[in-house]
Amino acid sequence: MSAALISPPLPQPLPRSPQPWRLGILASGSGTNMAAIATAIAAGHLHGEIAVVIYNNPDAGVVAKAAAHGIPTVLHNHRHYPSREALDAALVATLRHYGVEWVVMAGWMRRVTAVLIDAFPQRMVNIHPSLLPSFPGVRAVEQALQAGVAIAGCTVHFVELAVDSGPIILQAAVPVLPGDTAASLQARIQQQEHIIYPAAIALAASGAIAP
Ligand code: GAR
Repeated sequence: MSAALISPPLPQPLPRSPQPWRLGILASGSGTNMAAIATAIAAGHLHGEIAVVIYNNPDAGVVAKAAAHGIPTVLHNHRHYPSREALDAALVATLRHYGVEWVVMAGWMRRVTAVLIDAFPQRMVNIHPSLLPSFPGVRAVEQALQAGVAIAGCTVHFVELAVDSGPIILQAAVPVLPGDTAASLQARIQQQEHIIYPAAIALAASGAIAP
């Protein structure tokens, strides 16, 4: 495994709530972060339950991974909505239908609006493959390589309106190695994403880290 740094001291989650936190996952792609969260829950490392996975691309790999964990999936194809707000209103309805308490963006590649954020105030988190505030937006790993950074990484943060912005919960640093391509660096960053995302959800949901 590649070297990584998580800024010490790492706070511990506060004592468990009696009921597992109900998580609603938004995903557009392969769903490896969703799977890592599901695995952490199954292993008893995260006191949660994935109530629903919402996806927007009909062929997203996250669907099969959710099925393998017995998690319900709902398609909200953004192409079928007249505006970002209309899509987000539909997301809110589905998230409420499943009793979701925390919204977890795991590779959700759509800009979110106040319609969604205001429905879950301070209860939305996102993961991004850079050390924010550097390199927000698309192709973050390519941006970092092109900038010539020596240290890349990933960030979990509370969600605010601007893309990939909001108070930081956890970050992991990943050194750039000689000969790294975007693919090789992204693969090592994803290994760290799968570690820090379940940990960050536990810290946020327990209230140990607040925005
Ligand atoms: C992750 O690397 C995540 O950081 C990134 O999408 C990938 C999804 O992978 N998110 C963003 O770039 C958000 N701006 P996954 O589908 O395998 O979890």
